[in-house]
Amino acid sequence: MTRIDKVLSDLGIASRKEIRQIIRSGRVSVDGIPVTAPESRIDPEIARLTLDGKPLEYRKFRYFAMDKPEGVITSSEDGKQKTVMDLLPAELKKLDLFPVGRLDKDTSGLLLLTNDGEFAHRVISPKQHVTKEYYAETDGDTDAHDAEAFARGITLKDGLVCLPAELIPQGRSCTVIVQEGKYHQVKRMLAAVGKPVTVLRRLAIGALRIENLRFENGICELSPPQISQIFIK
Ligand code: URA
Repeated sequence: MTRIDKVLSDLGIASRKEIRQIIRSGRVSVDGIPVTAPESRIDPEIARLTLDGKPLEYRKFRYFAMDKPEGVITSSEDGKQKTVMDLLPAELKKLDLFPVGRLDKDTSGLLLLTNDGEFAHRVISPKQHVTKEYYAETDGDTDAHDAEAFARGITLKDGLVCLPAELIPQGRSCTVIVQEGKYHQVKRMLAAVGKPVTVLRRLAIGALRIENLRFENGICELSPPQISQIFIK
């Protein structure tokens, strides 16, 4: 059971203080009965909540995409450096979101944030083969030999063998599609073929492409069809 003001606050409709006033004024009903005490406890998964007679949809799990800029770290907290969590608007900071996997500080692009641990595991686990597509610029041109090496499975300098990946060479830039997310994976794969990365941007996770998302202040809540796209092969 959860306090009703917390449930409404998690929906992001107003600040906690405003919500308490809204509740006290009798505008919120639970199963058709007005509730005026902000400290009342409800089960948000079964209670039918309305505000001014209009239904409020409670979602336990929330899914967001961010167009991560360069220069911020993908971590939930850091004393000194700016993190992706610092970029969230105040109402989303309350949702216990965490980043799904990591992008390096100097990598930009598509980053998912959620409060659903099982979903995050499905996206990250190499067993699920959720593809991640990157645009890379390299010091030196990539070519068909590099593409073949990626398709066979690159052995990194420390001996770690990567799953087969796709590399589409376009001179100084290339597209790389991987199915796993080892530490500095794309940079290390390209370094292993002698083409150090100078720019890296994630363009897609599964079939969810960054160019199809409408970001507002760099963040976008994903709809159920958009979430499904992540798992489309
Ligand atoms: N691979 C990398 O090397 N860096 C990233 O940020 C993501 C994938």
